[in-house]
Amino acid sequence: MPDITRRDFLKLMKGTGIAVGAGLVAAPVVAYLYPTDLSIYPAEPALVCAENELPVGESRTIPFGRYPALIIHTADGLKAYSAACTHFACTVKWNNETGTIDCPCHDGYFKVEDGSVISGPPPKPLLKLETEIVDGNIYVKVSEA
Ligand code: FES
Repeated sequence: MPDITRRDFLKLMKGTGIAVGAGLVAAPVVAYLYPTDLSIYPAEPALVCAENELPVGESRTIPFGRYPALIIHTADGLKAYSAACTHFACTVKWNNETGTIDCPCHDGYFKVEDGSVISGPPPKPLLKLETEIVDGNIYVKVSEA
């Protein structure tokens, strides 16, 4: 086994520290340039709740494959989106006071009408999902279009 001097050991530790530091700095940059794949959703509709359990102005966030789904009962009917923000995939939330969908991570704001970006860093709209009512229950599914 080769002898290693104190100087060699310190050089090795310095190099390792630089490599780890570079990785920590590069990881968010890579994540920004190559956004998370948001396309992993279940093929089958998922039960949200009974129709009468989601009054106008309320929302539900449910597990829906890799990312949750956000279902909102607006005055214009049900709206559903992937709850994964298109910036860094934080979970967005319905804000009934402002009538917007808000991302708490970096102040991203989306329109409830179509999921488009109002302001903030998200690069594209929320993924729109579809709802359907079956036997008095609300289901959410991936849009077929
Ligand atoms: S993750 Fe939503 S604004 Fe950054």
